[in-house]
Amino acid sequence: MSEPIIRLTYASRATFKTAQQGVESEVARILLQSRRNNPKHAIGGVLHVADGHFFQCLEGKRTRVNDTFSRIASDPRHQDVQILSLEPVTERMFGQWSMKYSAAEKNLDALLKRYGFESFDPFRFNQDMITEFLQACASNKDPMANVGDNQPVAANDSPRPWWKRLLKRG
Ligand SMILES: Cc1cc2nc3c(=O)[nH]c(=O)nc-3n(C[C@H](O)[C@H](O)[C@H](O)COP(=O)(O)O)c2cc1C
Repeated sequence: MSEPIIRLTYASRATFKTAQQGVESEVARILLQSRRNNPKHAIGGVLHVADGHFFQCLEGKRTRVNDTFSRIASDPRHQDVQILSLEPVTERMFGQWSMKYSAAEKNLDALLKRYGFESFDPFRFNQDMITEFLQACASNKDPMANVGDNQPVAANDSPRPWWKRLLKRG
């Protein structure tokens, strides 16, 4: 049986000053690195940055997500890295993205307000909020879509049957 897909969501604090408006150049660099590396491991996900916090979701095969997360967790550009949720999933939410960038949008502000948040503090998110926030990120546009080479990753989940692989070779 092939390895299940897992969804890992974590929060952390940026060690540099994050932009109030627009995107800090360090974040653009992180997106470039993610979009270069993640497709090699069939990892997808989303990154949201606001009020000095990172919120990131990684989807992919367990061992691949573990390896990538270990690398990310030791990155000096953030600290206090804390896993918020880790679950096996049957379907990816971000299969079309090697790393989607989620910007501040009205629907995300409304969601935070509804849960009584004055600023973006993912360390205080409960499970319902994590799910709702991810769903909202999935439906928003990515203003950084043309940074680097974003690639859909879901296609790698189901290996082609042996007879299709043979056909491809011919
Ligand atoms: C908040 C945050 C999120 C990151 N997300 C990813 C990611 O999804 N994939 C990735 O390969 N690197 C990510 N990185 C960068 C890694 O920590 C690391 O610098 C990078 O993978 C090294 O890759 P390179 O050797 O190709 O430069 C992230 C870093 C930070 C601070």
